[in-house]
Amino acid sequence: MELTLIIEYMFEIENKVYVGAPVVLRRLRRWLILRDPEVKYIVEVGVDEIPEVRDPVPQAEVFLGKVSEHIESTSRFLDTEEAVAFFILNTESRVRYSTRLYGLKGQTILLLTASPEPLKGPWLLVVEGEEGWLGKLLVYNNMITGAQVMTKLGEYYGKAALDFIENARGEVRVDAVRLKRRAFEWDPSRFSVFVRGIDRQHQYLVAVLNMAYLGLVGGQGRRALEEVVDRMVEYTKFHFRSEEVLFDRFHYPEDRAERHRREHRQFTLKALEFREKFMQGEAELTLDVLRYLAQWLQGHIGGSDRAFGVWLKEVAQAPITE
Ligand SMILES: [Fe+2]
Ligand SMILES: [Fe+2]
Repeated sequence: MELTLIIEYMFEIENKVYVGAPVVLRRLRRWLILRDPEVKYIVEVGVDEIPEVRDPVPQAEVFLGKVSEHIESTSRFLDTEEAVAFFILNTESRVRYSTRLYGLKGQTILLLTASPEPLKGPWLLVVEGEEGWLGKLLVYNNMITGAQVMTKLGEYYGKAALDFIENARGEVRVDAVRLKRRAFEWDPSRFSVFVRGIDRQHQYLVAVLNMAYLGLVGGQGRRALEEVVDRMVEYTKFHFRSEEVLFDRFHYPEDRAERHRREHRQFTLKALEFREKFMQGEAELTLDVLRYLAQWLQGHIGGSDRAFGVWLKEVAQAPITE
């Protein structure tokens, strides 16, 4: 049998390898279970469905000026300048405008409506007041999901920051910066490892990461984020296992395999530790954590994983091409 399909699900029975799409192989697996042959090896490196990354705040207009109910926890993200900088799209996606505040209740909305560009998706508004105060608003589809104000007298976060803005008067300058819609933009030319099953697993991880990012900037609550964190950790463990099974199966040179495994181990330890702390309320999922995850994944997929993919294709000549 010619093995030129993809490694999605792969079976080796009596030293024969069966490769194919999940549907076909699921049927094959059922057939195997019924007849109960001696199955020596099963490698699963596929995913059935890559989750869809949905917009957490779908109807922009309806939410104009609305404040997310989770604003107290989201507002702390704005502390980490470096993380915010990582998520800023580019310098051209920046709008500057000014408006006037009158010390009236509900006036925060003026900061949004004065924008010459609709504030669709995630935005960061840097607001400079007349008496030297500096505010930052995280806005998602016109909903305020985070707020921070720095004054000479102190710092305010969340509702307290919004209260400060409600009472402010005078001319304000706004520098609105568009944030990325994704923490990790999938680019096959940089991140494909030439093994479709592994590529799809990576895309799954990237999708979960992007969900966490949109969840954060979209002002979702802790409950929603807990689910995402859990999914991310569990899926990462499964994914690392899939790669390591392939190392063994195709006899990836031990020094390279061990270096790669070590990267997996170190990351897994960190991820498990973070989940533990997060679930106990001792750590928060912040933009900084997401920046770390995105950068680690980009480095690992584009580096070690891709190196393994190239080796698998060229040296091991594994049946991985479509
Ligand atoms: Fe990987
Ligand atoms: Fe890896």
